[in-house]
Amino acid sequence: MTNGTDGDYPKSESGKPVALEARRTEGDGRRYSPSVARNRDPILSVFRDHVCKGGHVLEVASGTGEHGAYLTQALGDLYWTYSDIDAESRASQKAWIDASSHDRLAGPVVVDASKGQWGDVERPGYWDAIVSINMIHIAPFEAAFGLIAGAGRLLKPGGKLFLYGPFARNGEIAPSNAAFTESLQSRDSAWGVRDLDRQIIPLAEEVGLSVAKIIEMPANNLSVIFQRQA
Ligand SMILES: C[S@@+](CC[C@H](N)C(=O)[O-])C[C@H]1O[C@@H](n2cnc3c(N)ncnc32)[C@H](O)[C@@H]1O
Repeated sequence: MTNGTDGDYPKSESGKPVALEARRTEGDGRRYSPSVARNRDPILSVFRDHVCKGGHVLEVASGTGEHGAYLTQALGDLYWTYSDIDAESRASQKAWIDASSHDRLAGPVVVDASKGQWGDVERPGYWDAIVSINMIHIAPFEAAFGLIAGAGRLLKPGGKLFLYGPFARNGEIAPSNAAFTESLQSRDSAWGVRDLDRQIIPLAEEVGLSVAKIIEMPANNLSVIFQRQA
């Protein structure tokens, strides 16, 4: 990632971008993404109504950390653990924990979603929800595969996996998402908008997760909620 200068596009140690927008950084290290300012309220509303109002939530690919801060501020019984593969994103998550007026934000933990073992958060049957927002299209498919396998392994019975982002549906893709996937693949041929029905749901069903709800969100995004069988 970058040195945090305003207006830079954050990059990982490998030099690849971890986000496709400029993030603003506060003096205390908290980062802000323009996309989070736009999507945090619609996500809060769906999360509250369809995922959970309280319990232990693991976020995979927390990025700046804003979603966890915003949701725990709004939902007083939510305990949220941040994680990311990227060190500078984790530093921002730590800054959000330090700035928080409550103690329900934890981590950040190193989690590479594509791995079969998630270190400190590898607690089978513990998590009420696992959340990943805008990650699976900006990572190789192994990250989507590993995320879903992790949810099958670690969610408690009845727990929810919440995915948010752009998707194709059964081979059909919105024009804006088709243009987006082209731009993603020009950066890395392993990235791209995934097909929910053909690529994601079959993987989820294989690990005991069934679709609980699919909700259309602004800007051709979806909220997708899976539930682990009880
Ligand atoms: C577009 S950002 C989204 C961040 C945040 N969820 C949000 O909505 O603002 C993508 C994030 O995915 C993380 N990421 C990419 N590949 C990953 C992997 N294999 N495991 C965990 N995190 C990953 C990046 O470091 C980055 O923080």
